[in-house]
Amino acid sequence: MSTHSLDASGAGGSDTPNLDFDGTTPYEDYVQADVLTHLQHPRSDDPGEMVFLVTTQVMELWFTVIVHEWETAARALREDRIDVAMDALKRSVRELDALNASWRPLAQLTPGQFNSYRAALGEGSGFQSAMYRRMEFLLGEKSASMLVPHRGAPRVHAELEKALHEPSLYDEVLRLLARRGLAVPQAVLERDLSQRYEPSPEVEAVWSALYTDPGTHDELVRLGEALTDVAELVWRWRNDHLVATRRAMGAKTGTGGSAGVSWLEKRAQKNVFPELWTARSHV
Ligand code: HEM
Repeated sequence: MSTHSLDASGAGGSDTPNLDFDGTTPYEDYVQADVLTHLQHPRSDDPGEMVFLVTTQVMELWFTVIVHEWETAARALREDRIDVAMDALKRSVRELDALNASWRPLAQLTPGQFNSYRAALGEGSGFQSAMYRRMEFLLGEKSASMLVPHRGAPRVHAELEKALHEPSLYDEVLRLLARRGLAVPQAVLERDLSQRYEPSPEVEAVWSALYTDPGTHDELVRLGEALTDVAELVWRWRNDHLVATRRAMGAKTGTGGSAGVSWLEKRAQKNVFPELWTARSHV
């Protein structure tokens, strides 16, 4: 990023970067790199803990961007601005790719390496990630009980509670399909938004009709494909997490208190936007 003063064409400035600033650099004022790079406080002496901590922080940042994109997409769909929604969804697909690539430094941890700092994590677990939970809520995987761990953090709790009661990204998609004259059942449109989305045979029939005859609603089929990209990459994140966990700790119980790998296996089996997958059998 250049902090030169440029005219509208990008010309101007001198040959070398500015060195003189009254206070902190404009870069720092924008990026807050000083804050960001002093948020790493390993809890053990193990040199391998740093990358575990930073990878987790990097993933939290990607979760934050992706939540932003999906909230943008949901709002745009509500306003019938499909082009804006598609742009946000496509950005999120590339961000999910980057998120998934950040498994690389942790993907081959041995149990011995993980044990070197595991005890230092105490009862801390990614299960307690509020931003991940907001991603899941936006995908329709709602659950009031997931607010319980955050009772002691008012801002986080309030954001999660709001997200619990708002329409998910998929709810907004189904409302749009209904506005376009497609036979989404009233019960689906008026469902209790704070509950997990349950697949509906009628919604499956809507998607299979769209995919069978894409000519009439090509824009909606493109939307369906963007959502399928999102679903696939979320599934890949869950599976990469599962395999990394299996390598690092076998069948031991998790620091968050779950059965560990067997619990994660069940989570990874859940289909994101379920009818977009099952409809394919009928096209
Ligand atoms: C190789 C290192 C890792 C291991 C061994 C591991 C292990 C586990 C285990 C066993 C669980 C189940 C809950 C529990 O009992 O703790 C879990 C959940 C979770 N972990 Fe990890 N984890 C690792 C890395 C990460 C990283 C880097 C993140 C990034 C934020 C993360 C995010 C999550 C999330 C979001 C959940 C909840 C999943 C859900 O609700 O379906 N994990 N992890």
